Amino acid sequence: MVFFHFVSINNAEKYAGGQNKGEMLKNKKIAILLSGRGSNFTAIYEAIRRGDLDAEICCVISNVADAAGLLRAREWGLQTIYIPSRGVERTAYDRLLIEALRPLDPALVCLAGFMRILSPVFIAAFPSRVLNIHPSLLPAFPGLHAQRQALQYGVKISGCTVHLADEGMDTGPIVMQRAVEVLDGDTEESLSARILEQEHDVYWRAIACKL
Ligand code: GRF
Repeated sequence: MVFFHFVSINNAEKYAGGQNKGEMLKNKKIAILLSGRGSNFTAIYEAIRRGDLDAEICCVISNVADAAGLLRAREWGLQTIYIPSRGVERTAYDRLLIEALRPLDPALVCLAGFMRILSPVFIAAFPSRVLNIHPSLLPAFPGLHAQRQALQYGVKISGCTVHLADEGMDTGPIVMQRAVEVLDGDTEESLSARILEQEHDVYWRAIACKL
């Protein structure tokens, strides 16, 4: 009986629509790290604007000065930070990232096409708080050109995975996955486009799960 009593109190707090103290104090800040076009970042931004995702993008960081995602974030008035990576050793670079992120205190760091492997130093700085999205059903086809790898192998089902990042390449506990059928005649482009559509719908849901 006592147990059920506790459950109902917790649920009341959880669903009080942000009216109780615990809910209001919850950290909903997310940081986005990207290197390219930023379509996943855009999908996350739109989910927040629609009211589907209760989160706040506290900054968008890129190692590429003219990454389309970084420029778009700037246009939208978000805080953007460019940290050049050329010639900087991996751990030294990650320390710069940590230095930029720490004062912002993000609840989650979301990798969205960030073309760098993070060092153990970075992962340790944000334990169980770094999310990544990958265009395959992990653990199949980690690394670059996952869609090409899937086609070359001849799988009939591929998809995308949101997972907590660890020190490995596209490894770490899986949060959500979406399956996408590989069709006869698919090219890398056509398969990538259908997978990307699913990425855009699954990433914000996985973020919501973890916030
Ligand atoms: C996506 O396919 C994502 O799965 C992978 O990198 C790509 C980034 O695309 N990690 P975008 O920059 O979000 O459009």
